[in-house]
Amino acid sequence: ADLTPLNTFGLPARAGRLVLLTAAEQVRALAAEPGWAVTPRLVLGGGSNLIFTGDFAGTVLKVEIAGRSLVSEDGESRVVQAGAGENWHDFVRWTLARGWPGLENLSLIPGTVGAAPIQNIGAYGLEMAERFASLDAVELASGEARLFFAQDCAFGYRDSVFKRNPGRWLVTAVRFRLPKNWVPVARYADVAHELAALGIAQPTALQVSDAVIAIRRRKLPDPAAIGNAGSFFKNPVVDAATHARLAAAHPALPAYPQGGGSVKLAAGWLIEHAGWKGRDLGPVGCFEHQALVLVNRGGATGEDVRRIARAIQADVLARFGVVLETEPVFV
Ligand code: EPU
Repeated sequence: ADLTPLNTFGLPARAGRLVLLTAAEQVRALAAEPGWAVTPRLVLGGGSNLIFTGDFAGTVLKVEIAGRSLVSEDGESRVVQAGAGENWHDFVRWTLARGWPGLENLSLIPGTVGAAPIQNIGAYGLEMAERFASLDAVELASGEARLFFAQDCAFGYRDSVFKRNPGRWLVTAVRFRLPKNWVPVARYADVAHELAALGIAQPTALQVSDAVIAIRRRKLPDPAAIGNAGSFFKNPVVDAATHARLAAAHPALPAYPQGGGSVKLAAGWLIEHAGWKGRDLGPVGCFEHQALVLVNRGGATGEDVRRIARAIQADVLARFGVVLETEPVFV
């Protein structure tokens, strides 16, 4: 099966077998197949955080489990659930259309609901973990269902137990707790500027969503038009001494204190100031409006992606002494 149209970077790859999964119960049948225990397995959602560096010899499970519903409600919050195969952005707008705020800052993030907890998606001052209630998953080896609460997921910055154990679990449905005493999260510089420019002082959730959509359309390439996997590197967290050294040499360096003296730096700034913004290396380029994003200029392979990523990492290390970690999953 051809995986090229199933990854947003548009990298060429083939799978030994592709299974479309529309119900959690299908996994139990797969787990009963002879040879399943030794078959390499890959779970695929929207394919928006994946870099294929070659063919995948095993079974690819493409999650297409549907469904959106209000699960429960009390004085403080609502719990809403979506099947793992639902499109993330459509789900966010569906909650907003019902007057249920809480996920608006995460508008227009590519991919599926089931992929959201894997890397704990985050943007514009909010991480998914802050709205997470619980999820259903099945263990791929056994087909056994398991309920995960937040503490079981070990969410971190673009990280979770699922990202650290690839191929072990398949998320089938996710529940989010949306607060009724909602207040907008609009301190992030881009969001604050966007709302101020529109003369909006007390934004509704829909206005925050629209602002985020406008910002993302300006800065980030639409994967339907230009192949990409979103941010290609994590924002590095450095210790106080490293930050002090860099800030002295580069007063404009954006920095976000993390507590305990450590500071998160903007990888996009480092990459831009290393001269990579808008630059190509073969068929892969560093995006002209957001240096943290690598784009497919046409015909790129996973090896082309790896080459430019390594060149950028080496250059940022040489110039700033900072190690950049890649953010998408390499397969
Ligand atoms: N910057 C530059 N040059 C660039 C890009 C950024 O100087 O080319 C500077 C900006 O001016 C700003 C700072 O870096 O001062 C931060 O930039 P931005 O607000 O665009 O966000 P980011 O840190 O580059 C992160 C997430 C994005 C998320 C945005 C908004 C990561 C790895 N990336 O990017 O998430 O949308 O914040 O919250 O944390 C993703 O994970 O795929 C992703 C797109």
